Amino acid sequence: MAGDAARETIAGSVNAPLHVGIIMDGNGRWATARSMPRTSGHQEGLEAAKRVVRAAADAGVRYLSLFAFSTENWNRTADEVKFLMGLVTGYLRKEYPFYQEVGVRVVHSGNVKRLPRAVQRELSAVMKDTQQFDRIVVNLALNYGGRDEIVRAVNRLLADRQKSSTEQPRVTEAGLRKHLDLPQIPDPDLIIRTGGEQRLSNFLLWECAYAELYFSDKLWPDWDRDDLLQAVRDYGCRKRNFGGVR
Ligand code: IPE
Ligand code: IPE
Ligand code: MG
Repeated sequence: MAGDAARETIAGSVNAPLHVGIIMDGNGRWATARSMPRTSGHQEGLEAAKRVVRAAADAGVRYLSLFAFSTENWNRTADEVKFLMGLVTGYLRKEYPFYQEVGVRVVHSGNVKRLPRAVQRELSAVMKDTQQFDRIVVNLALNYGGRDEIVRAVNRLLADRQKSSTEQPRVTEAGLRKHLDLPQIPDPDLIIRTGGEQRLSNFLLWECAYAELYFSDKLWPDWDRDDLLQAVRDYGCRKRNFGGVR
């Protein structure tokens, strides 16, 4: 079951979010609580991501942005950073049967040039391999920062303008938006943060202008299908005004 029918049945509302963003937080605490290294939490987080991607697709969510590594996460120990990059190179392409079964198209947002070459290769291979799948688009936000994205967008806009000889009109919201990492993807309707903190940590700053926010105390590796469905149902009960009066 896919599309609007699934959105209506599972979410209990046709108001299911088209685009959900998730700040997958709490891997380190999950592992520490079990006297395990933080890296085990990241490994387990991968399993949670697969459960949640499947649930989101079943709920009719069409775009899912997963915050996997922020521009600030380089501040962690070299070992932890290396492990996280290793997860990408070791697992991303290997999960092809999962993408095929669920119908996942993988895309990326973030500063690709500053990622290790092996990660860049892995990302472009998986994007190419999955481009025909169309049930859900999973945007892997890797080396992603909202401010960094806006600055890169401004620079792309300036570079485009330099190439053009005609006089340029003033910059507009729509004009800048076109230069963001994924301009074709609609703004997120719902942003979920797991792990108890209530902040955005530089995630999708431009795109979140009117997103509904949902905070969960559960640590990311403990998240499962029902947690996602509950968040989607909660979203279905929200009243969105977009500055107007209903
Ligand atoms: C989120 O979990 C995953 C990444 C940021 C890569 P954390 O690693 O931040 O886990 P906590 O917040 O320390 O528990
Ligand atoms: C946000 O989590 C980044 C990701 C989930 C990838 P952090 O754990 O890095 O956020 P802060 O540092 O607690 O704000
Ligand atoms: Mg954290």
